[in-house]
Amino acid sequence: MHPQAPLRKLARFARIYGPGRALFKAAGRLRLRLPTLRLRTQPRDIAVAGCGQFAYATIGYFLQRRFGRRVLGCFDTDARAAATLARGLGVPHQCVDIDALVALPGLRTVYIASNHASHADYAARALAAGLDVYVEKPVAVSLAQLALLEQARRRASGRLFAGYNRPFSGAVRDLRRQLQPDPAAGISLQCFVAGHVLAADHWYRHPAEGTRICGNVGHWLDLFVHMLAWRGTPQRLDVALTWVDDSERDENLSIAIATERGDLCAIMLTARNEPFEGINESIQFQHADVTCKIDDFREMVLWQGVRRERRRYWPKDPGHRDAIAQPFSDELRRDWHEVLDSTLLMLHITDMVRSATRFSTCDLPKARQELERLIASG
Ligand SMILES: NC(=O)c1ccc[n+]([C@@H]2O[C@H](COP(=O)([O-])OP(=O)(O)OC[C@H]3O[C@@H](n4cnc5c(N)ncnc54)[C@H](O)[C@@H]3O)[C@@H](O)[C@H]2O)c1
Repeated sequence: MHPQAPLRKLARFARIYGPGRALFKAAGRLRLRLPTLRLRTQPRDIAVAGCGQFAYATIGYFLQRRFGRRVLGCFDTDARAAATLARGLGVPHQCVDIDALVALPGLRTVYIASNHASHADYAARALAAGLDVYVEKPVAVSLAQLALLEQARRRASGRLFAGYNRPFSGAVRDLRRQLQPDPAAGISLQCFVAGHVLAADHWYRHPAEGTRICGNVGHWLDLFVHMLAWRGTPQRLDVALTWVDDSERDENLSIAIATERGDLCAIMLTARNEPFEGINESIQFQHADVTCKIDDFREMVLWQGVRRERRRYWPKDPGHRDAIAQPFSDELRRDWHEVLDSTLLMLHITDMVRSATRFSTCDLPKARQELERLIASG
């Protein structure tokens, strides 16, 4: 690495995310405690399971720096991760497992940002303890896990929110406000994603963690399903995959989807070099009288008839702030059925990648039926 790369990165991130957030991201990597500048008036009623970079630098930042919320307890299978997050965010209780965490007196909400294979189980336990739960993506890495989670959600008094954040981005919300969905017209969406290079032994690649389809691609599948729901969700999604390396079919791949309602989606995940500014997304959309380009959630250009409008988003707004705020805001909640549908589609494509199937149809009503069967038998 170039000796000045960390400083250049800090400066670049300050331009993209603002200086406060850039410093917090660096503090997350170095596990430093930053002085508190904001008066915290909220009760200490939040717990965090999984104390890695996202829990610290994104969930921790928005909860504590932006919403004035305070974390009561945390848990991580790596005691050092838990201890450094506890020190960095000033968290009084460090728990030995998820059951101890969700049993903390005074707790109302749990944020789950651990490994993917643990999300559904942890979320189900927290729901069973009567808590509100925010679970990071993916919400499950198998149909059996999704059934377990959905069963827990239906029985629970608490509410469940997913960390799929793109629908909460400023650009997607501005696009939605501008659009008059046409029930008879198709939706076109294209997402070019320059993702992180993951080491061969990175935990995302462990077979139990659901591949990069669950780890990354789920975001854009979820965005597509969210946009389809604006007009009405189709039933059949024909999926075609191409990849360049048979031994790593979940990256440097393209996914094309067509539906019986005339929709078209193309997602390309490319990871040939490490993006210096982090993951970079170019998104294009067309429906009814609107055509739009979203450049990395920093800028959107929208054409509607004779109108052309350009909006900038600073700090970059991929929707993390509002996704994380879901438990505290009635306005921001998302229909959970969208998350179920997007997870069913994601699991279908995960199976395709695993079995090296290049073409297959995801029949959503059938997939929902199978989920119901598993819930009933669980
Ligand atoms: N929404 C987004 O844009 C976004 C971005 C990045 C990461 N994430 C998600 O956040 C979560 C964490 O990712 P990260 O980037 O912080 O990874 P990370 O590797 O930095 O952190 C993961 C943490 O989980 C801990 N862990 C592993 N297994 C555990 C278990 N069974 N129980 C408790 N803790 C466990 C690890 O020790 C580690 O501290 C993942 O679900 C990831 O997909 C979301």
